[in-house]
Amino acid sequence: MRGSTYSRRILQRFRQISISAVGSIKIKLLLSCCIVFTLFIIAGRASSFMGWHHHYPSLIPSSPPRKGYTILINTWKRYDLLKQSIVHYTTCTGVDSIHIVWSEPNPPSDSLHEFLRNVVRSNSKGDKVIELRFDVNHEDSLNNRFKEIKDLKTDALFSIDDDVVFPCASVEFAFNVWQSAPATMVGFVPRMHWVDKMKSSMEYYNYGGWWSVWWMGKYSMVLSKAAFFHKKYLDLYTNQMPASIRDYVTRNRCLRNCEDIAMSFLVANTTGAPPIWVKGRIFEIGSTGISSLGGHSERRSQCLNKFAAEYGHMPLVSTSVKAVDSRYIWFW
Ligand SMILES: *[C@@H]1O[C@H](CO)[C@@H](O)[C@H](O)[C@H]1NC(C)=O
Repeated sequence: MRGSTYSRRILQRFRQISISAVGSIKIKLLLSCCIVFTLFIIAGRASSFMGWHHHYPSLIPSSPPRKGYTILINTWKRYDLLKQSIVHYTTCTGVDSIHIVWSEPNPPSDSLHEFLRNVVRSNSKGDKVIELRFDVNHEDSLNNRFKEIKDLKTDALFSIDDDVVFPCASVEFAFNVWQSAPATMVGFVPRMHWVDKMKSSMEYYNYGGWWSVWWMGKYSMVLSKAAFFHKKYLDLYTNQMPASIRDYVTRNRCLRNCEDIAMSFLVANTTGAPPIWVKGRIFEIGSTGISSLGGHSERRSQCLNKFAAEYGHMPLVSTSVKAVDSRYIWFW
């Protein structure tokens, strides 16, 4: 009896020990599992990061050696802005050449030529020499910015105004997006149109600026002050688009600048698809331009309605898609 109590106690004690041993083994197991798991995650992260950098060029053909893009820069008597822009863009790796659309009565001065030539020379790396050209126009028309250029080396054009600057990373990302959809326009500044049913029995289109896009989360155009498009659209704009639209753009220069809306119509009518808005940082380096003048939206609306009438329908397509660089968003 006594012996059995004693042995039970020993047994109990033993069980306790073994239970606590099992307990500590479990905890250790759990701990080591956690550590291994954490290591796995870290290793996975690291390798996926490494892998990313390794395979990046093959997954996305980001600026292959000579097939970059051409910068088409529209400028008007703002030499400081032009110089700033060119100094900046010559540092972007994907830039193949720079075309300056020149519509002033006087040709570019020798000192401007000299300055830009030096900039290009000092920023060209190795055997890659950026080509810089002035495309001098004799008549002053807003259509000049989309005039056909015969000997372009790249399919991709990055059309910009001289008063906005985009970091190279944003430009290269937009270029990658464009390479996925080379028929469409890919840009940084979205705008929209919407039907105003109150105006009349006819469909009346309203032009919506930044606030409208923000409010409705939709857009149907990207402005050519900052957009990639295929060079074939220069040919289409100059030679295929109805002359009445080009005339309208020229005639109404002082009141409205509508050439970018005309380009949006042309691309939308060709693709039947919306443009693509790319997230990017924008730096405005000039004073505020025509878009800050009062009544701008109203006049842009007139362009929309004029062009829709010319086409016989509204070719613009709305979307809410926005392209962002997945490397810079932390939470999915
Ligand atoms: C719009 O596209 C249609 C179909 O591709 C084409 O037939 C028409 O000529 C285009 N309109 C204009 C004004 O370019």
